[in-house]
Amino acid sequence: MATIAPRAPGRGRIKPLDEILATAEKKALKRSLGAFQLTLLGIGAVIGTGIFVLTATAAQKAGPGMMVSFMVAGAVCAVAALCYSELASMVPVAGSAYTYSYAVMGEIVAWLVGWALILEYALGASAVAVGWSGFITGLLNSIGVHIPHALAVGPPIQWGFLQGGEVGGIFNLPAVLVVALVTTLLVIGTKESATFNAVLVVIKIAALTLFLVITLPMVTGHMANFHPFAPRGWGNPLSSSGTGILGAAASIFFAYVGFDAVSTAAEETKNPQRNVPIGLIGSLLICTVFYLLVSAGVVGSYGAEPLINPATGLAFKEGSPELYASAACHAANAPTVCSKEALAFILRQVSSPIFGNLVGLAAAIALPSVVLLMMYGQTRIFFVMARDGLLPERLSTVHDRFRTPYIVTIVTGIFVAIAAAFLPVGTLADYSNAGTLFAFAAVSLGVMILRKKDPSRPRPFRTPALFVVAPLSIAGCVLLFVNLNIESKLLFVSWTVLGLIIYFLYGYRHSNVARGIVEVPEVSPDAPRSIGVAPMPNAPAPPADIGERD
Ligand code: ALA
Repeated sequence: MATIAPRAPGRGRIKPLDEILATAEKKALKRSLGAFQLTLLGIGAVIGTGIFVLTATAAQKAGPGMMVSFMVAGAVCAVAALCYSELASMVPVAGSAYTYSYAVMGEIVAWLVGWALILEYALGASAVAVGWSGFITGLLNSIGVHIPHALAVGPPIQWGFLQGGEVGGIFNLPAVLVVALVTTLLVIGTKESATFNAVLVVIKIAALTLFLVITLPMVTGHMANFHPFAPRGWGNPLSSSGTGILGAAASIFFAYVGFDAVSTAAEETKNPQRNVPIGLIGSLLICTVFYLLVSAGVVGSYGAEPLINPATGLAFKEGSPELYASAACHAANAPTVCSKEALAFILRQVSSPIFGNLVGLAAAIALPSVVLLMMYGQTRIFFVMARDGLLPERLSTVHDRFRTPYIVTIVTGIFVAIAAAFLPVGTLADYSNAGTLFAFAAVSLGVMILRKKDPSRPRPFRTPALFVVAPLSIAGCVLLFVNLNIESKLLFVSWTVLGLIIYFLYGYRHSNVARGIVEVPEVSPDAPRSIGVAPMPNAPAPPADIGERD
């Protein structure tokens, strides 16, 4: 049980680092992870819908220039990752960017970061679920099992910042089913083990390698596919469309999200000063090389030209009802940009359907674990926020038998399922990116503030050239954010305003810090532990904490 101790009055709404670290020390985890496991962990969390599906979105936004988009997004992630590592190694505890911000910049920033992380994790999970739906639908289709179109895609929507869907769609049943399955697994306490993660990494890498082995030899014969290289230019942040190379980078950024799995595992890492940066940069580097080669294979084997609307002479909006309804998307040789399972589709077109189906199968097997990782992260962030008093405490209720925060898990599952049922993958990924970019920028700012405010605190990992790297990270996040389409930017602003209203109506008064309540964690060795074989470190509070701290 948590003890309540009065906090000295007059302290600002900052949750002192020492208090947070005291919690961490009590539950000190075994330092068992090396650079190799960390790199696998990063790859496992990162490779997913972004490369397997959103390559089609990137092609519609940038054409062959999407290869540069992958590099730009990878570079922004690399500098953000270096900043993440320093805080993760100093504050290796529950709550990810939310906790770092509470310790460094105070409650309101922490609340806004936590609020933005809902976009990252919950809508990110929805995006991956919709991506999975595209693969399972295509796979079943190829063996003669047809899911009715009305139940395989969301409806056409064009309301303010909610845009997308398809004519004839009602809701995305497969996406809802996978979310329901993952929610059930999380309620009963299933976690991914390191071995299971390694198997999935091998499956994903094997699928991408198969794609490369088949498509790269075709590149030399199709050099014309690379011209024009950037048919929609670099992009213009002032235009509402978020297209061009930078617009595609802002969307494809989703393909790199999840690397913070490595930074939050700092507490379980041997020699984190050396291994955390190797794991972070190593997994990002491997993913970037794969992504670059895969996008070259897409262009060189089949082509990645944006589809032009014959009625207007302008490119269609990516993933729009008009694009999917166009005659070109219903032709036998439909362009890449029409596909909802891009890599499998291309292999079916340029080689044998067997290879396409193999890649589809690999994605269908591997993507649910990315949904699980993201939903797990979301439930633990909600849990920590509820424990801090910023959300109703009831949300953090732990199930008697499973020892999991089941209420928050079910609430998250409902939210994720509704978004996945009605919104298309590209829209969801863009919304998720808006939240992630905000959190990354906050972490980059926080690490600089902490260097100034508390320079002597031990830092197992120090970001090299921090005062160059962190501003670069913030600039990169701003650059990608402004290149998102107008709907995503409006969604983010509206979401933030809603968050502020909720904070002032609820969290401002109920926060433990405001009420002078300090949690003094006590470890009970008898506390029941959740089902699972190994900790899944990309998420804030492992379920075992729940029994230990509350
Ligand atoms: N990076 C993860 C994906 O692409 C979220 O699915």
